[in-house]
Amino acid sequence: MKFFVDTADVKEIRELNELGLLDGVTTNPSLILKAGRNIAEVTKEICDIVNGPVSAEVTATEYSEMMREAKVLARIADNVCIKVPLTLDGLKACKAITSEGRQVNVTLCFSANQALLAAKAGASFISPFIGRVDDTGIDGMELISEIRTIYDNYDFKTEILAASIRTVNHVKQAALIGADVATVPPATLRALVKHPLTDKGLEQFLADWAKTGQQIG
Ligand code: E4P
Repeated sequence: MKFFVDTADVKEIRELNELGLLDGVTTNPSLILKAGRNIAEVTKEICDIVNGPVSAEVTATEYSEMMREAKVLARIADNVCIKVPLTLDGLKACKAITSEGRQVNVTLCFSANQALLAAKAGASFISPFIGRVDDTGIDGMELISEIRTIYDNYDFKTEILAASIRTVNHVKQAALIGADVATVPPATLRALVKHPLTDKGLEQFLADWAKTGQQIG
């Protein structure tokens, strides 16, 4: 499973990348707002740090304007992955952009049929929003599972990018189902390493080691 980080915070991205944990980054207009940065500048900075796809989202809703914005975003760096919304215009743009050889992430997916359409439009990634589905009282993981089955049935190459992840359990469940990628907020990504028995075990080892009076090297 690939790990993307879901943020436009360059400091977080740099730190996580140095840990060797990152395969890519996703941003969206809300994350750009939160970072308080200019989209072109921050996307360029992120693309220079991470050796993998960096999703930057168009904000137009009409096809030709989406294509104009996509061209502007694509000029920022070779690893910019154009994010388009799951609408008819977005799907049309997806088809056009991927046929030019640029990766596309189709975002705001809330149904298996939407994911089917995105795959048919040649999407590189489909982003089902697990947490937001959970918020409606429906299990978001069911959506990942349905998409996995459909993509496997027809051998679609579109990668399932589990998005709107809120908990470490979301990451585990998405991995068990076979999502190709999880885009995870920085704090949740760091929390994946935590286990009380790891902390307790390490404490014990260090205490016993101190009693030996030895040093390595
Ligand atoms: C995905 O690419 C989106 O940026 C993101 O996962 C949305 O998550 P949210 O529901 O926490 O805003």
